[in-house]
Amino acid sequence: MLEFSVKSGAPEKQRTACLIVGVFEARRLTPAAETIDQASDGFLSAITRRGDMDGELGDTLLLHGVPNIQADRVLLVGLGKERELDTRGLVKATRSAVEALHHRGTAECVSHLSEIDVRGSSLEQVLRQSIVAIEDTLYRFDELKSDKTQGPRRPLRKVTFILPTRKELMDAERYVREATAISNGMRMAKNLANMPGNLLTPTTMAEHARKMTETHLQLSVEVLDQSRMESLGMNALLAVAKGSSEPPKMIVMEHMGADADTAPIVLVGKGVTFDSGGISLKPGPDMDQMKFDMGGAAATIGVMSAVAEMQLPINVVALIPTVENMPDGNALKPGDIIRSMSGQTIEVLNTDAEGRLILCDALTYAARYKPAAIIDLATLTGACIIALGREPSAVLGNHNPLIRELIQAGESANDRAWQLPLWEEYQDLLKSNFADMANIGGREGGSITAAAFLSRFTREHHWAHLDIAGTAWKVGESKGATGRPVPLLTEFLMNRARQQQEAGGGSTS
Ligand code: BES
Ligand code: MN
Ligand code: ZN
Repeated sequence: MLEFSVKSGAPEKQRTACLIVGVFEARRLTPAAETIDQASDGFLSAITRRGDMDGELGDTLLLHGVPNIQADRVLLVGLGKERELDTRGLVKATRSAVEALHHRGTAECVSHLSEIDVRGSSLEQVLRQSIVAIEDTLYRFDELKSDKTQGPRRPLRKVTFILPTRKELMDAERYVREATAISNGMRMAKNLANMPGNLLTPTTMAEHARKMTETHLQLSVEVLDQSRMESLGMNALLAVAKGSSEPPKMIVMEHMGADADTAPIVLVGKGVTFDSGGISLKPGPDMDQMKFDMGGAAATIGVMSAVAEMQLPINVVALIPTVENMPDGNALKPGDIIRSMSGQTIEVLNTDAEGRLILCDALTYAARYKPAAIIDLATLTGACIIALGREPSAVLGNHNPLIRELIQAGESANDRAWQLPLWEEYQDLLKSNFADMANIGGREGGSITAAAFLSRFTREHHWAHLDIAGTAWKVGESKGATGRPVPLLTEFLMNRARQQQEAGGGSTS
């Protein structure tokens, strides 16, 4: 965990192991770089003239012995074309900068990148995006490696951001605290999701949630066990758990930051700690990735950590149905018909479409909170990756303003979502000859029929569904959890909290 701070001041006066300044294309010095250049009798411009740094986005050059300044080193960072620099560009430049420093014994640095005018971005966004990007770049999951000395000898520990002017100091300090809360939430989500299925089970996830109340005093946590769920009639959820020796749980977390009578936002996170497919067994290759099938649950817990740390004046309830999906003599079988908590019956044509079965009972349970909106997040369909790739999460729902709000929040949080249609016509694909509905709708439009299934359990509420199958984790060399969509949802909740306050909705904090 890094330490971040803000201050104002002149670049040549910063006493630091490393000063970070930007260079635009083509070889145009930023104001901070210009100041250093003047103080050092043209040291930087001589370097750019020789062609060592053109300002290409993400390029870096570490300089020693820059004369007449207090800093030990200067890191030049390419920012691309000045007029094109947006938040994504800033994130890319920031990532390169910390990568360049981390392994070079610089435990601390001062960055002037936060002074730069970024297209369509406020100081709040610049600081938040920078901090989130730095934490994400330096994140490693090495808890389960024996050799803990693999990292750099003197890793980066402290980053100070220089502000354009002194008068932003108070606000900026708050932005740093908020960004830190978001980063901490993302780290928690990543740590949970990266944890393998033998160590992270429904039971250990519930223990983790319970433990969070020790550090976040405002959070309350309740865990519904199997017998409690039986008496509530959560048969769809319980049916998925039948094939596993791990008992299922429903984790309920509450953050009541606003008046008790303010309707909460309910988040529902899919928590399949391992998805083998059940009797409809998945093929072998890459099956290990199905330990990430609790990415929705992990992000939900991460969001709760962030809102609790910020003491956000809003009411949020998190529901986390969590099970393991395994084949076994007791397991759910294709053709089985189950009665969900809502009373609707479901013909299970494929036991690998288990996410919707655990979510539907959680969505029914959500009604008791009389929510202002329900948002579920789930690694629900492989079809989502086919449709949209791994850039955006898919968003579908029954209330377009809510969907637009989420897309907008994702846009400004650099955690994008893209809408897929959910027209009534798709419901026909879920027809069953033997029950009220089937749990699958065939190969076509797989993400949409999955959402169509969920919509039948949340007709009475404003509801949106985020399919995060393509965004919750990365594959290939950098295989691992991303902590998405913690930034999108936290941004959404911060916006909602602000709106409620402006509308005069009271707060208890
Ligand atoms: N957890 C998977 C979805 C998934 C697959 C996410 C691959 C990310 C990568 C989900 O439970 C599942 O198996 N869905 C099936 C649905 C099908 C049986 C209708 C799928 O996508 O194949
Ligand atoms: Mn599945
Ligand atoms: Zn699954």
